[in-house]
Amino acid sequence: MGKHPATRNAARAFEDIVAARTSRRTVLRGGLATAVTGFLGGTLTACDTEAPAPPNATTGPASQPRLGFAAVPIGTADEIVVPPGYRYQVLLPWGEPILGDYPEFRLENTGAEQAMQIGMHHDGMHFFPIEGEHPYEGSSDDGLLVMNHEYVEPRLLHAVAAGTEIGSFVSPVDEDGSRDPDQVLKEINAHGVSVTRIRRGEDGRWAAVRDPRNRRVTAQTPMAIAGPVRGHDSVRTQYSPEGLMTRGTMANCAHGVTPWNTYLTCEENWWYYFAAAENEERPSFTRYRVGSILPWNWHLARGGADEHIRFNAVPTGATAAEDYRNEPHCVGWIVEIDPFDPDSTPVKRTHLGRCSHEAVVFAPVREGEPVVVYTGDDAGGQFIYKFVSARPYRAATADGSLLDEGTLYAARFDEDGSGEWLALVPGENAITAEAGYPDLASVLIDPRGAAELAGATRMDRPEWGAVDPVTGDVYFTLTNNAGRTETHAANPRERNVYGHIIRWREAGGDPAGTRFDWDLFALGGDEANGRDANGEPLTADSMFGCPDGLWIDPDRRLWIQTDAPDASGDAYAALGNNMMLAADPDTGEIRRFLTGPIGQEITGVIATPDQTTMFVNVQHPGAGATSAEAFARGEHASRWPDGGTSYPRSATVAITKDDGGRIGS
Ligand code: FEO
Ligand code: CA
Ligand code: CA
Repeated sequence: MGKHPATRNAARAFEDIVAARTSRRTVLRGGLATAVTGFLGGTLTACDTEAPAPPNATTGPASQPRLGFAAVPIGTADEIVVPPGYRYQVLLPWGEPILGDYPEFRLENTGAEQAMQIGMHHDGMHFFPIEGEHPYEGSSDDGLLVMNHEYVEPRLLHAVAAGTEIGSFVSPVDEDGSRDPDQVLKEINAHGVSVTRIRRGEDGRWAAVRDPRNRRVTAQTPMAIAGPVRGHDSVRTQYSPEGLMTRGTMANCAHGVTPWNTYLTCEENWWYYFAAAENEERPSFTRYRVGSILPWNWHLARGGADEHIRFNAVPTGATAAEDYRNEPHCVGWIVEIDPFDPDSTPVKRTHLGRCSHEAVVFAPVREGEPVVVYTGDDAGGQFIYKFVSARPYRAATADGSLLDEGTLYAARFDEDGSGEWLALVPGENAITAEAGYPDLASVLIDPRGAAELAGATRMDRPEWGAVDPVTGDVYFTLTNNAGRTETHAANPRERNVYGHIIRWREAGGDPAGTRFDWDLFALGGDEANGRDANGEPLTADSMFGCPDGLWIDPDRRLWIQTDAPDASGDAYAALGNNMMLAADPDTGEIRRFLTGPIGQEITGVIATPDQTTMFVNVQHPGAGATSAEAFARGEHASRWPDGGTSYPRSATVAITKDDGGRIGS
């Protein structure tokens, strides 16, 4: 097979890095008992960290390898494939009724009915054991499955679109340029987050349960603004002239789970929901692409209702309290939701910054120490951030207010394999009033600009992260960055089409500190371009492209999910459909565990506390792989999961092992 020209360069760059890093590692680790081999010191162990392991974490079964399953081959069919000895069931597809009148799924469902059903395009997800006490301990048969619904496919959402020539990322607009208000409502209600109680029956199968805690949070649910931006001039709107409240969460991609048992949802591509003035000059708009594309046009809904015109950020009133010029400042945050209290008001935690958030992952908490949170900004050349709380963690009293006071940092990865966290604070690191940052709120609304001033490193689209429960090592996926022209040791490939995975270790095992050491864990690609942690080429069993979702389980299997563009592209053809793999952090071995149907991304992964069921999301089957012309003919590139002549639907799969063992073992 032919090699992509850009990745030939990449392979060469990689060899240079291997050479440089190996010699550095020899120096760095030379005094440790740990054997250091290869480029990464792939055998790093917990010997120089004090991070405590959670109660159920292990350093790996003593007598068996961490990856105990047979690799599945590259997939090209419209199906899910799991290893021999595993099975799966589909659960909670888009449109499944979960509350209220429990309206049955039909393409003709109204906007109001969609608010009682599972949303579209499943993404980040967590299983909260039903006891409601600890996010990773408790029942493995009964819990609240909480998940994000990232965006919508309007042509599938609206029955009237059938037979029309409409693309995958377009909403129907009427001839007069307006939009049907109920279609807009259905799109709004298909976004957000769902909370569904699920239970495993005697037959081993999972099913949704009718429960008063079942909930839909949508793109118009009222939310509080907390942290330094609360009450700031930049979030005053007609809806909340004091700048205290806003409505809705949208573009919910990755997620997080707090040590105090709440759910965090990340607002990623929120910027294309708003119309902006052509002469808009605010960096908090321009640096974030607000108004640059407008696929949904919710502001054009007929009737001019307040909940629709708020998506128009063009000034129309005399002051910010009389229009929605500031509405795009009310999104791009990380939102906290208490899944056990259906009446609770979700809270936008502004001290974590406003950007295209992906991951929000916590370092293991320690009593009396600060809470440390890592988050990424998924756009080409954007940054990785860390928040360190001002107040110490106390298990007995911890709550979301810990995220409202502290310091936000951005990462600088140095060529020599070390790195520094740069505080994004007015008066430090070139972040001044003259540069446009008179106060902390203005930094948090535009962290991209502040991080650039501070000299943080531009990364290849940071997506999900995971923190090793034993070593404290932090892993982040860098999904791809075809626009990269200048390489850097931490982002070593020009036109990085396949992405890579980086990891770092905080100096002295202190996650709240400002120094760290980093490595590359893997480079995505086919057998010619991919590399594992030892610098060895990826194989038929391990090759992948565009790593996105990431989770490390208590046995320290690192689960990697992919979101490569449709397999039709040359660079990705050999990689087939998007997939999930597992890696051993100690050996660097990677092995493919699952392949998905056509035209989807695999995203969202969590297991029950006993690890005998793993939940994985399948997002947008068919989607971009179905052309507008094919859609008009009634064709779909995918018919997953129902098959036959059905529409494709995003859904969750629950994976179990036939022998009842831990997934991946
Ligand atoms: Fe929604 Fe960055 O993936
Ligand atoms: Ca993602
Ligand atoms: Ca992605």
